[in-house]
Amino acid sequence: MDRREAFRSMFALSGAWVSARELAAHPISAASAEPEQEDDESYWARLRWQFLIPRDQAYFNTGTLGASPRPVVEAVREHLLFVEESLAEWDYSPDKPERLAGYRPEEVLRGRIADFIGCDADEVGLTLNATMGMNFVANGLDLEEGDEVLLTDREHGGGRSGWDVKARRTGTVVREVKIPEDLSHPDEIVEAFEAALTPKTRVLAFPHITSGRGIVLPARRLVALARERGLFSVVDGAQAVGQIRVDVREIGSDAYFFSPHKWLLAPKGTGVLYLRRDVQEKIWTTLASYQWDNHDEGMYRLMQYGTHNLSLLRGLEAAVAFMSQVGPDRVAARIRRLGRYLRDGLSEIPGVVLETPTHPDLAAGMTRYGVDGLEGTTLQDELWKRRRIRVRGAPSVRQCTHIYNNFTQLDETLEVVRALARG
Ligand SMILES: Cc1ncc(COP(=O)(O)O)c(C=O)c1O
Repeated sequence: MDRREAFRSMFALSGAWVSARELAAHPISAASAEPEQEDDESYWARLRWQFLIPRDQAYFNTGTLGASPRPVVEAVREHLLFVEESLAEWDYSPDKPERLAGYRPEEVLRGRIADFIGCDADEVGLTLNATMGMNFVANGLDLEEGDEVLLTDREHGGGRSGWDVKARRTGTVVREVKIPEDLSHPDEIVEAFEAALTPKTRVLAFPHITSGRGIVLPARRLVALARERGLFSVVDGAQAVGQIRVDVREIGSDAYFFSPHKWLLAPKGTGVLYLRRDVQEKIWTTLASYQWDNHDEGMYRLMQYGTHNLSLLRGLEAAVAFMSQVGPDRVAARIRRLGRYLRDGLSEIPGVVLETPTHPDLAAGMTRYGVDGLEGTTLQDELWKRRRIRVRGAPSVRQCTHIYNNFTQLDETLEVVRALARG
């Protein structure tokens, strides 16, 4: 079979959803060896070879962009070549593979994503990033002047700005819940939301994990609160899917959007918007093309934004397969274990200010910290200069642990921080 044929069979469009079990029966080349036990370092060391970042560099900035493993990069590359080599052969017949994204529902891919996050394929819409999902919801939801949208004071611009635009245009009101600086228990977040609700509140919107301090919000409890009060609930999962286990049905929100190009290790420029079936009719189409008024095929109506890059979708498919094969629970446990190790180590160093809460339910793989008297960017640059450790440094350091990281890299981080904290 040549490369083109391989692609045709690998990614042939079929009407049926592909379940996680079917996917497991056709493993990709990654991570074939099962770890003997949860903390089998040799398994993770072997898995590290699937990533292209040079071995002497430690990458800890997944909160901005995840590092895609080889099968993902290969899927994109192969498909790009396939498109460019075979454009002239494309006669548009329905049994021939498409060369562009934007005009077919991508049912198989949506089914795989649905399996991964615990919903149905027609509840999954493909976007280009989290920001697009947020805007589709904020723009598409009918609200009246004076209606309140309650969100946190820790929103990323891509989780909030659509609500600000709506407020400016239509007179809705955006109100913020303050997440305490010295947060020590999830109850405090739920209580803060409860206290901020008013009879005018219509929408509750919050990040599942905040982008700065990496605080894990008690999503299920906040959504339950929204449901009790009849509010529309929207969760920004940009930092969550791939970092922690996410089951959108279990969370119960009306909407959930995320960027697979972060913790799911997918190609850059991919996004997902989930809308529960029974609320889809509440959301107007924002970007419209042929199928904008198609109410029979679920989220396809919200995927009408014209031509985009099909090769990236093949990479997204490979990323879901890769993460499914390694195992989302195993990935989440590894990420959390590394994160906790870093926080434990940092909390023992005099002069270090740990900004991420230490309560186990409030943190996972993201840790923000600083050293007294030192700019975050100085700490960032020293970590790179001394040990080739890449963190994000402004305003303080944010260090994200993923499956391509290990305890040795964290020990090296702690060693550098210790030396700098001594002055
Ligand atoms: C919580 C949160 N929401 C939204 C976004 C925006 O993501 P994107 O640029 O992929 O749309 C980010 C990006 O860092 C984020 O951390």
